[in-house]
Amino acid sequence: MTDPRSKRLLGKVVVVTGAARGQGAAEARLLTLEGARVIPTDVAGAPGCRRLDVTSERDWAELADELRESYGQVHGLVNNAGITWRARLGDVHPADMARVHAVNVTGPLLGMQYVTPLMRPGASIVNVGSSAALTAHYPVAYTTSKWALRGLSKTAALELGPLGIRVNTIHPGYIETGMTASAAPAFREVNVRETPLGRTGTVGEVAPLVAFLLSDDASFITGAEISVDGGMTAHGAVKSVSDALREAPNPKGTTHP
Ligand code: NAI
Repeated sequence: MTDPRSKRLLGKVVVVTGAARGQGAAEARLLTLEGARVIPTDVAGAPGCRRLDVTSERDWAELADELRESYGQVHGLVNNAGITWRARLGDVHPADMARVHAVNVTGPLLGMQYVTPLMRPGASIVNVGSSAALTAHYPVAYTTSKWALRGLSKTAALELGPLGIRVNTIHPGYIETGMTASAAPAFREVNVRETPLGRTGTVGEVAPLVAFLLSDDASFITGAEISVDGGMTAHGAVKSVSDALREAPNPKGTTHP
């Protein structure tokens, strides 16, 4: 991870969910380097992480009480915690749909409900969507949950704008973390093939976007959605077409018909 050029988050109190590993851990590290007082949280016990299950209203209420007492206000919330479940349309169970939506949609909802009362004008919320929120994708519970999160983020931006609180969504593509490591190798191969930059992304390439959106540099940005995916969602299926034609001989023997 590169050294931040400034301490642009100096003095800001920021809550990050799902911070025990992966993107959340990298975000907590970078935000701290940029001067924020980060409260890293996770359902998994991890050193330095406060335990918080994003689906538990009681956990959020307790955290909000603690934050009120310790800091008086909160400047940033990163709703990063998320889970996947790779069952397809034909075999996904309603219980798994509900479980995934509880973490990926209700979690950010509760986070915003409990933390925004501690926020003042200038505060910023970043919701972590996915390239799966922009396209069709085979894991149906995950895909629908991330599409729902887009709607939640837009609504929150509408509701919280008059309070001076910004809400934005980022959409990572294939990022090397424990989540993606748990998929079949073919998943990674196809993602690399379909990504114009021709590779996967790292947690260190997502965290700076989160830092920017939390900072005052993004003071007029709300309700926005920003992809950090190497261009994967920019092309639909056209990359495969383009690649195939680049290699194929032209029937008329010309290079540019
Ligand atoms: P990860 O699986 O490495 O880390 C997720 C963290 O969330 C874990 O520490 C886990 O303990 C925590 N978590 C799970 N359920 C929780 C709950 N109920 N309450 C609190 N914490 C909980 O995953 P990764 O890759 O770091 O994912 C972070 C976010 O980025 C997720 O929202 C994920 O959907 C999203 N994302 C990931 C992509 C990738 O390629 N890795 C691509 C697009 C989006």
